[in-house]
Amino acid sequence: MKILELKNIHKSFGEKKIHQGVNFYLEQGETIALLGHSGTGKSVLLRSIIGLEQIDQGEVIFRQQRIDQLDEESYYPLRTKISYSFQNAALFDSLSVFENIAYPLFEHTKLNETQINQKVEDVLKIVNMSQAKFLMPSDLSGGMQKRVGLARSMILNPEILLYDEPTAGLDPVNTDMVIDIMNEFKARGFSGIFVTHDIPAAKRVCDRFLLLRDGKIYFNGTLEEFNHSNDPFVLTFGSTHRSRHDVP
Ligand SMILES: Nc1ncnc2c1ncn2[C@@H]1O[C@H](COP(=O)(O)OP(=O)(O)O)[C@@H](O)[C@H]1O
Ligand SMILES: [Mg+2]
Repeated sequence: MKILELKNIHKSFGEKKIHQGVNFYLEQGETIALLGHSGTGKSVLLRSIIGLEQIDQGEVIFRQQRIDQLDEESYYPLRTKISYSFQNAALFDSLSVFENIAYPLFEHTKLNETQINQKVEDVLKIVNMSQAKFLMPSDLSGGMQKRVGLARSMILNPEILLYDEPTAGLDPVNTDMVIDIMNEFKARGFSGIFVTHDIPAAKRVCDRFLLLRDGKIYFNGTLEEFNHSNDPFVLTFGSTHRSRHDVP
């Protein structure tokens, strides 16, 4: 089942055309990689899905319903179902790890403290940060902050997670952990869009690869098709024969 569909998305900033007819869909339960050079509009596209940017033309459809023309108020509940994990972790410095993760629960649910505590402990376990519950963000490394940010973005049990370069700037150990988190989320049946330059990471998580170029989806294929593509532009994105060995 298509859980999310983008139809003919157009977006410009002034004279600058960013998207010129973007089309693709996300099947329920799959995680797709969205690749493209810097500045091609990957982040703007993720932001457009949840109404943080207004598209000029086209349709965004979530579970058979258009969501591109909602008023600001209607976007709030939507953003609990489609969760955007920011490029930087964007934690509140003055709140503890527990408070940061619990924040959306206090905002959006009527759960009591015991229930909230249980949910926070559950996601902390997924991101392997149980020991950090009462630490402050300043006590954490960049990689740990990222993991806390991911825990927060999944605390409301969203149906789709939009990951914006979640492994950028991480060391290999934290990169591995973030990949495990994404795969755990996927194993639970949730869907995702993984924007990244980290092709080896994408190959460990994603079922399908999309390449954004000149405002359109230039390539859309399975991991297998991506790995074996002879298209010169696709090849520059690491679908070379050598990177086949990246995947066991
Ligand atoms: N609010 C904005 N106003 C004007 N230009 C913007 C705005 N946000 C992004 N852009 C421009 O849109 C283009 C695409 O940005 P972005 O989606 O961040 O690229 P990336 O693919 O690297 O994530 C860039 O040229 C960027 O400068
Ligand atoms: Mg970006």
